[in-house]
Amino acid sequence: MIICNKDPHQKVAGKGIELLEKNGTTVSSGVLEKEGEWVNRRFFKTHRDNLPYVILKWAENQNGLMDSLREDSETGINWITKPETKTLVHQWRSEEDAILVGANTVLNDSPMLNLRLADGKNPLRVVIDPNHRIPSNHEFWKLKTPTLVISRSVRTINSWTEVKALDKNDTLINQTLKILAEMNILSVIIEGGAHTLNSFIKENAWDEARILTGKNNWTKGLKSPSIKGFLVDSFDLNTDQVRIIKRDLTK
Ligand SMILES: NC(=O)c1ccc[n+]([C@@H]2O[C@H](COP(=O)([O-])OP(=O)(O)OC[C@H]3O[C@@H](n4cnc5c(N)ncnc54)[C@H](OP(=O)(O)O)[C@@H]3O)[C@@H](O)[C@H]2O)c1
Repeated sequence: MIICNKDPHQKVAGKGIELLEKNGTTVSSGVLEKEGEWVNRRFFKTHRDNLPYVILKWAENQNGLMDSLREDSETGINWITKPETKTLVHQWRSEEDAILVGANTVLNDSPMLNLRLADGKNPLRVVIDPNHRIPSNHEFWKLKTPTLVISRSVRTINSWTEVKALDKNDTLINQTLKILAEMNILSVIIEGGAHTLNSFIKENAWDEARILTGKNNWTKGLKSPSIKGFLVDSFDLNTDQVRIIKRDLTK
């Protein structure tokens, strides 16, 4: 029997191997350990830290901007990447338990945050809206899919949307991740905007970042986050470039 990684859960760690060996099976453990760690990274993160695996994702242009300068009343997504790249993003969404954005992204872009170009289950939609700035009649609430709002106070929106209130004794990001862990969410993809992504970066509350760079020439707009980590993969998709960065290479 060949094993990449031992289960990090205290109740299990090494016990399965012991049992196999006791019953006459030869076990080689630690084979392709790094690769096994990567494949099972969501599971390991949850069991080691009791928090979900956090993936930051954003698109930026060649000038490091993630949105063009907007007029106050302007809404709708200003696309940076090619339409074909959307399929990859929907595939990514299908692999995670939750998808999270900040209030301004909902107000400016009115995203659906569901799966349309990939098969699978919609991730839980999570929005950080501490001050209930998203009005109750906003399009965002109309999609009948499980949604969670992180806010300072509870209110009723609809039957498929739950609002969880924050307390003041912990940072908003830490509380959000704890709430998700309590809901058995193993992984969350953070899809913007800049304020929200930067909050996760500032608190070191991220595991992986996926940055899409499109050929677009805006020179004024919203600056994308700057991030320090280790480049583990990069590839081109038509004229877009994809970079995958890890915060810590040992995990
Ligand atoms: N290119 C891309 O990949 C991409 C993706 C998504 C969005 N965008 C663009 O980004 C823009 C919005 O970005 P943004 O930076 O203005 O806003 P945002 O991150 O979408 O939302 C920020 C708001 O969310 C709440 N929030 C988020 N994190 C918080 C924290 N840690 N603590 C307290 N409150 C927190 C705050 O609401 P309160 O102010 O009520 O406290 C804050 O003002 C949109 O125009 C959109 O087009 C681009």
